[in-house]
Amino acid sequence: MYNISFLPTFAIAMETAAFSSTPSLISPSINKPFLSQELNRGNVAKLGILASGDGSNFEAVAQAIQTRQLNAKIEVLIYNNPDAYVAKRAENSNIPAVLLNHRDYTQREDLDTAIAKTLQQYNVEIVVMAGWMRIVTQVLIDAFPDKIINIHPSLLPSFKGSRAIEQALASGVKITGCTVHLVSLEVDSGKILMQSAVPILPEDTLKTLHSRIQAEEHKILPAAIAIYRLH
Ligand code: GRF
Repeated sequence: MYNISFLPTFAIAMETAAFSSTPSLISPSINKPFLSQELNRGNVAKLGILASGDGSNFEAVAQAIQTRQLNAKIEVLIYNNPDAYVAKRAENSNIPAVLLNHRDYTQREDLDTAIAKTLQQYNVEIVVMAGWMRIVTQVLIDAFPDKIINIHPSLLPSFKGSRAIEQALASGVKITGCTVHLVSLEVDSGKILMQSAVPILPEDTLKTLHSRIQAEEHKILPAAIAIYRLH
């Protein structure tokens, strides 16, 4: 038998937990004063961003820099699709953009050699894959060991690969999210830096879920870069 007198207390506890637990959906948790004070110490981090498409994550990083949430500079954007909107975003922000079209290279390694060379020309220290839809090779990993960061739209290690949101929807899980991690040779498998959880709602479509996941990506990508810089 349940002790009925326990129930009201439990209800209040649940309500409080629901309210106060919102920030802990992001882990490690972040708060604005920490971001603005602690993370602006030290040198300006020189970032190189790799992106394939729209570039909303590129924009989130650029904005975090502009609002001094992140002590960094985007030295160069590398993109691989000639019509990617991210190039326009870079132009609007006066950030150099270099097109390295993967269709011009027969081997993945050749593309990565060109990417590494470009990043080195711009003196990049940290590489950020922000919607970069190419599989990385040892060439790029060797050029920037433990210095490549990726954003992935699931709570890794669940739902690796390019159809993570579709997989989450099809699987019936009730919570998914996004992960910022270091890049290793095995796809979506490197050390996890930060995650944010996103509930899947009964009426969710690919579009609605992706849009809520992206809102979280825009929070954790700049924050994870900032935290990474401290180590
Ligand atoms: C993001 O959802 C990212 O997780 C995935 O590709 C998307 C890129 O979006 N790998 P955007 O180009 O940054 O808007």
